[in-house]
Amino acid sequence: MKRRDFIKMSLLGATGLAVIKGTEVMGYEGKWVDKKLTNIIYTRKNPGRWAKKAGSHAPVIEVKGRKVKVETKHPMSEGHFIVRHTLVLKDGTVLGAKTFTYKDKPISEYTLPEGYKGKIVATSFCNLHDFWLSEMII
Ligand SMILES: [Fe+2]
Repeated sequence: MKRRDFIKMSLLGATGLAVIKGTEVMGYEGKWVDKKLTNIIYTRKNPGRWAKKAGSHAPVIEVKGRKVKVETKHPMSEGHFIVRHTLVLKDGTVLGAKTFTYKDKPISEYTLPEGYKGKIVATSFCNLHDFWLSEMII
């Protein structure tokens, strides 16, 4: 493994997004995820065993200028809540993360780098319904 590949894999591994084939980060909602990561990473297109949960678990991304809002439309209670969001850029850079308690609203906000173009990936983790991911191309 080349040093650059190792660094990229380490960065993605820290976010739980070790989705690498060769040196390319594959489209998270592309065919590779749909075929290989069923019941590991959940998306709207591939909700696996949580098919009825996509609407309340796949993070919703809104972009206005450089501002990004990530929301999981999920109720929050002591026994069942959204634990954490992250926002990751196309090169694996973690732009930010927010950890929630059950008393919080599962909303997080980030600021994109000046002039950023390309894919952004939002993650959301439910304590009962696992790891969800949504993406958007800006
Ligand atoms: Fe849940």
